[in-house]
Amino acid sequence: MRYLSMGRVPPKRHTQVRDEGRLLVEEVMGYEGFSGNESILYHLQSPCRVAEVGGFTPIERPEWVPEAHVHRLTDTAPLPPGGDPVLGRRLLMFNDDVEVAIAKPTEVSSAFHRNGEGDEVLFVHEGSGELETVFGRLPFSPHDYVVIPRGTTYRIILGEGPHTWLTFTTPGEIETPNRYRNRYGQLLEHAPYSQRDFHGPVELETHREGGEHELVVRVRGGHQRFALDYHPLDVVGWDGYVYPYTFSIDDFEPKSGRLHQPPPAHQTFQGPNFVICSFCPRKLDWDPLAVPLPYHHSNLQSEEVIYYVDGRFGSRKGVDVGALTLHPSGLPHGPQPGLVEQSLGATETEELAVMIDTFRPLRLTPLARDLDDPGYALSWREDPALAATGTASGSNGRSSSA
Ligand SMILES: [Fe+2]
Repeated sequence: MRYLSMGRVPPKRHTQVRDEGRLLVEEVMGYEGFSGNESILYHLQSPCRVAEVGGFTPIERPEWVPEAHVHRLTDTAPLPPGGDPVLGRRLLMFNDDVEVAIAKPTEVSSAFHRNGEGDEVLFVHEGSGELETVFGRLPFSPHDYVVIPRGTTYRIILGEGPHTWLTFTTPGEIETPNRYRNRYGQLLEHAPYSQRDFHGPVELETHREGGEHELVVRVRGGHQRFALDYHPLDVVGWDGYVYPYTFSIDDFEPKSGRLHQPPPAHQTFQGPNFVICSFCPRKLDWDPLAVPLPYHHSNLQSEEVIYYVDGRFGSRKGVDVGALTLHPSGLPHGPQPGLVEQSLGATETEELAVMIDTFRPLRLTPLARDLDDPGYALSWREDPALAATGTASGSNGRSSSA
């Protein structure tokens, strides 16, 4: 991220600065001890101040261990809306590097949240709103990735809905890929986006009022509640490289080639042992003998999860908007029968999808089991009649839409 400064900061770090005569409290918020990116915030109150220590609720991550190791199709479209923007996220899959959840929030949360153990990304499929954060207001719209660094105190105000988000939480850092940046950190000319496409908070609001507020901090695998006797968004000024921001998938500049471009061409973010990629509408391969769809590939060391946002995804049959496919490590996958032939000569695609590839196996939750389409594993059978009647062992018995 680039350097940003909002509100009033003193000309020198670690020097006195006052607001209406009151000495402000300087907070350095940084990664990797004092060696990573940091921001410095100037508060009216000590950020340590709490009026009351509330309860601690461990986060449950129940696991569904299927009997069969197969490709999976998970349709989130039938999931009813509900819950608040943070605690209402419904976990679908996870490992020690990342949690993938779906959220369809409808409730306003009066509490403020802070993730004390991980960075968060919300991919906003539908709905708009804004984050009220300690760094200022951050509006979001459909198709935005919203990146929230750990340690950010925030509350999400829901605007026009319905709201559907695919969310990621990682104990690591969410970054733009190293190979897109020069040694100074600036995005390179060949990157699929530029600094202009990343949008930080638009306005810093300093709350000086007292009152009772609740703060919920995710820490040590649970949620710790605190009661505050002041408004936690009390920052008068801040500057630095750490702050929440949005990036719209519609601002991702897709790469096309004479022949098929592999998924790294679509990479948008990197995390520890995973990548997030954006598949966007684009021109397709122009060689007369090109096969525009992906070749079959064996993910020997990664799990591939694709969330379908809009348009028709050329390499998938029977996969609708709001569905996720999971192509786990150890099994080859590729376009389903007939799709390669159909694609020949195509000049463009309207597909819009978000992909996460993890380099360590993903575990599934009971929610993933409930939304599982067992017929997907058999959808590569040439005879559609056979595929329609087949079932995969370990399934929940639902019929295939493939
Ligand atoms: Fe793939």
